[in-house]
Amino acid sequence: MSKRILSCMQPTNRLQLGNYLGALRNWVKLQDEGQGTDKNQCMYGVVDLHAITNGHDVEALANATRETAAAYIAAGVDPKRSYIFAQSSVPEHAQLNWLFGSFTQMGKLERMTQFKDKAGKNTERASLGLFAYPVLMAADILLYKATHVPVGEDQKQHLELSRDIASVFNEKYAGGKEYFPLPEPYIMGTATRVMSLRDGTQKMSKSAESDMTRINLTDDADMIAKKFKKAKTDQGNVPANEKEGEGRPEAMNLIGIYAALSDTTTEQVMTEFGGQQFLSLKTALSDLAVAKLSPITSRMSELMSDKAEIDNILKAGADKARSLAAPTLEDVMKMMGFWKA
Ligand code: TYM
Repeated sequence: MSKRILSCMQPTNRLQLGNYLGALRNWVKLQDEGQGTDKNQCMYGVVDLHAITNGHDVEALANATRETAAAYIAAGVDPKRSYIFAQSSVPEHAQLNWLFGSFTQMGKLERMTQFKDKAGKNTERASLGLFAYPVLMAADILLYKATHVPVGEDQKQHLELSRDIASVFNEKYAGGKEYFPLPEPYIMGTATRVMSLRDGTQKMSKSAESDMTRINLTDDADMIAKKFKKAKTDQGNVPANEKEGEGRPEAMNLIGIYAALSDTTTEQVMTEFGGQQFLSLKTALSDLAVAKLSPITSRMSELMSDKAEIDNILKAGADKARSLAAPTLEDVMKMMGFWKA
């Protein structure tokens, strides 16, 4: 049976290397998997409703949505084969979110570590939207009865909640039948958790304050070289094996990024660079990152010069997405007992 793949990114700031290695490049691979009727059906959303839960720039939102869609296409997502759409243009997401919110216990949301990270110390001032964010994420996935969700490791806990919401719904409203399949997290490759270039214990993030912590998909060659050169390392040389890498998160992060970009393993990278000064690894890494990312960056700016074309792709994607979303919402409302003329 073909897999239904769904994944999304928030259009907040610019996409960074972690988004690419942990998710986007796997999306492209999944698009090509399977043959004939077994071919994967892939859906990739730009989750703009999620992007407004922690304060947002009103002027920049629409363009950030376009830019995120452009990054998907530039990285190799083919809008002819995969659906690319903005979450806000498929109103069924928000509707299903409300229905799921009616039976999702707050205690489960309180355990979400991303909420704790993003809300900071003052949870009283965090928005309801930020708190309820994982419920909307479950709606994104289940609306299309997705079976596999390719994400980085940081989304694993949210995926567990989506599975929980699916099984509570199946039990409560579908008489124990599997109306919603339980979505599997698909955490692929060697860079499932890319860390900050300045602190190997923090994940690389597009919302981190300092731009030096991340490689953006829009950075040029000079900027990429500068950021890797300034990346934090330690006093030692490049570790030659796992044991030498223990307790050295910054070193292991650079090795992991190199392995992911060169499609090898961390062991192979350590065999190649082990014992050398970090500068040689950093220089090779900059060259590799520029070679891999610059075609994407230039394709992205080409695409962004024709906004009408991106808008057309997003419109067509939304129409196709709605044709799948509407029947699910209708079923769910019926199962939950709503009146309908
Ligand atoms: P977002 O926008 O933060 O990130 C998008 C994708 O990039 C991955 N990622 C990383 N992977 C490895 N290392 C990193 N440093 C790194 N940073 C980000 C994320 O794991 C993710 O796969 N809640 C989601 C968006 C979302 C979603 C969904 C995802 C909303 N609805 C439905 C899947 C299905 C988020 O904030 O991703």
